[in-house]
Amino acid sequence: MAETSTSASSNRKRSRWQRDESDDQIPEDIISVQPRKQKQRKPSTPPSAISSTEPSQTLQAPRLPPKKSGSKYVPNRQDHPSIMPSRSVYSYERLNQIEEGSYGVVFRARDKQTGDLVALKKLKLDQEKHGFPITALREINALMTCRHENVVGIREVVVGDTLTQVFIVMDFIEHDLKTLLTTMPSPFLQSEIKTLLMQLLSAVAHCHSNWILHRDLKTSNLLMNNRGTIKVADFGLARRYGDPIGVGGLTQLVVTLWYRAPEVLLGATQYSTAIDLWSVGCIFGELLLNEPMFQATSELDMISMVFKLLGPPTPRSWPGYSTLPLASSLSLPSPHAPGFRQKFPYLTAAGLDLLQSLLTYDPDQRISAQDALKHPYFRESPLPKHPDLFASFPSLAAGEKRRKPYSPSAPNARAEYQLLTDLDEL
Ligand SMILES: Nc1ncnc2c1ncn2[C@@H]1O[C@H](COP(=O)(O)OP(=O)(O)OP(=O)(O)O)[C@@H](O)[C@H]1O
Ligand SMILES: [Mg+2]
Repeated sequence: MAETSTSASSNRKRSRWQRDESDDQIPEDIISVQPRKQKQRKPSTPPSAISSTEPSQTLQAPRLPPKKSGSKYVPNRQDHPSIMPSRSVYSYERLNQIEEGSYGVVFRARDKQTGDLVALKKLKLDQEKHGFPITALREINALMTCRHENVVGIREVVVGDTLTQVFIVMDFIEHDLKTLLTTMPSPFLQSEIKTLLMQLLSAVAHCHSNWILHRDLKTSNLLMNNRGTIKVADFGLARRYGDPIGVGGLTQLVVTLWYRAPEVLLGATQYSTAIDLWSVGCIFGELLLNEPMFQATSELDMISMVFKLLGPPTPRSWPGYSTLPLASSLSLPSPHAPGFRQKFPYLTAAGLDLLQSLLTYDPDQRISAQDALKHPYFRESPLPKHPDLFASFPSLAAGEKRRKPYSPSAPNARAEYQLLTDLDEL
């Protein structure tokens, strides 16, 4: 279908790829720029010897070793891993839109060459005035660094018609845990919760051992396939830790409110892996209760909910409390015992101990992902269920676009990435 000038202007910021199939008449010139065409080269020629400008008769002449230019300490260009251009998004057939999140639209698509189902996350770059956002670079970098069975697999980054159309290609996973928890007929069993929690902890331990903080763990960022395996996704707020931190410290605009650790709520600018473990604690509680643990409406509301469940912090439970920037502006409630047992009456003593070790005030005393994996809770009856024995559910993501259950969004920081870059030095 030929585009009128009006439709062309109204769709200027959308890729042709994103429009309905009926509108999609992919121009020949776009298809013909596929870098895959390079595969048609003569098979007998070693790849390093090929140059697109080389005349064909050089193939018959005896080849001299390439003449080294420049310093003998600098390796030849051919010795570097090949730098390939990104493939085009037209390598994929768009199937349906899965979700429009705060920071990108996610589509289900099929790889035209292999037939594999994939998810394409289109980065929102339309409003960018400062080049490619650091947050998008971090997301791609973190996904590539943290390859693991329980982290969503990144396949490649592809580009659309314009510079603002950049897509992350990932393996397609049938469900996100948030949607699944609200649509599945009955809640997960204890044995299933143990399996899911162990998978989540092993992904988190892997990210942390690769110096990556996720900083936005929540059920809508945990994907689950129909073979009982969890995949941590959405590394849009992730960053490296362990590097020297700039004078401003780390941004506090991280982690969706309901899953945000108390030290971040109280303004800490130096935080570490423990913030992800707090979020894991909130997810554990959500799996047990079948609803989010802290459904707070504001940061203050969130802090008071935490104080209510854990009892107010004491110099013993949180020695560093008084040094936190916002501590002096808060008046603590009168001391009372933690309310975990009342909130989780059916959880075993070991389960409660693990939950409390994750939801611990002091980040230094909070359990690490590695240690949590060794917790006795996972060795007591009922034992974790084998993933193959999990039920499978119809995938809403594979169907038509649908509304998701309400979940608060991640802090606005990713949209205003400049703020992040000001505070978080690379
Ligand atoms: N690989 C995938 N396979 C299937 N669905 C996916 C995949 N990646 C993301 N999704 C779906 O898209 C939703 C949004 O993805 P993601 O969290 O990466 O984007 P976002 O823009 O950061 O969204 P939000 O702001 O809602 O967190 C997920 O909650 C999930 O439902
Ligand atoms: Mg998300």
